[in-house]
Amino acid sequence: MIRQFAMLLLAACTWGTMSLQAQKNDFFRPQQVWNDTEGNPINAHGGGILYHEGTYYWYGEYKVGKTILPSWATWECYRTDVTGVSCYSSKDLLNWKFEGVVLKAVPDDPDSDLHPSQVVERPKVIYNKKTKKFVMWIHADSPDYSKAAAGVAISDSPTGEFSYIGSFRPNNSMSRDQTLFVDDDGTAYQFSSSEENRTMHINRLTDDYTRPDGTFVRRFVDQSREAPAVFKYNNKYYMLSSGCTGWSPNEAELAVADSIMGEWTVLGNPCTGPDAEKTFYGQSTYVIPVQGKKNAYIACFDMWNKTDLANSKYIWLPIKIDQKTNTLTIPWMKQWNMDEFK
Ligand code: DGJ
Repeated sequence: MIRQFAMLLLAACTWGTMSLQAQKNDFFRPQQVWNDTEGNPINAHGGGILYHEGTYYWYGEYKVGKTILPSWATWECYRTDVTGVSCYSSKDLLNWKFEGVVLKAVPDDPDSDLHPSQVVERPKVIYNKKTKKFVMWIHADSPDYSKAAAGVAISDSPTGEFSYIGSFRPNNSMSRDQTLFVDDDGTAYQFSSSEENRTMHINRLTDDYTRPDGTFVRRFVDQSREAPAVFKYNNKYYMLSSGCTGWSPNEAELAVADSIMGEWTVLGNPCTGPDAEKTFYGQSTYVIPVQGKKNAYIACFDMWNKTDLANSKYIWLPIKIDQKTNTLTIPWMKQWNMDEFK
């Protein structure tokens, strides 16, 4: 009898675990908790997505533990200790498998950029076809954000482990919020909020993508743009970005250029619907070109919870393209799936 009961209990537990594991996401639900394939909330903030050989990889700030406001703070520099950069993989962009922390914190070395006391934000990974290396750039900073540097790590595999090379100021300029963009000809660029976040620098990278090659331009001069996300549509370059209001939301902006280091024209706020002037309480981090679909892009935003950063959420929305006028908008949607791109 006891044995039978134990067997039943075991079967029930196994079924429970299986049903949790088998949980599938059928819709994007912006602003809602988004679970990975194991049923845990996805933990990859300020992230970027790489598509490589049929799989998407999502890299982001792995935020765990308490959010604190340092005692010396004169502004809202809420922080969590550095715990590393996480990686998730997916075939459909909806269901993500946790691949682990692929750039690990270094608790033993107080001088390391990856020491828990420092700041690691906005990781982006690109693949270099010549060197066959996966190259990660991060915003590496000190807790008061005065270091304003970029850090680089490399790996032979998309799921790591990444080895940290070190940090520097690209072209001797400050570098905070940042993203990477690889053009169709294989040339890569880092966009970074520079000059105390007032001006965006577009730094061309060396062939191995690990350093700036010395050619750069200053754009969006004195326009204070953060959170750049760059993509290419219809042979033009687009940059989605936010204003500078710390962890608090503000109005997004889309800009366009015919050539990446050429002149950029500001188009205005692409978001429409309730709270569009606050980017639906989000801040841009990446724009994903959906593979196998023409003119299909997903705008990815973080929804920061500044006093509990580890519980920040995500807002992913399809970019709507009016192909007659080439107008790009990001309308609010409570839930949606890939049928939006039909
Ligand atoms: C806004 C940036 O976009 C975030 O990545 C982070 O650096 C916060 N500022 C810090 O206040």
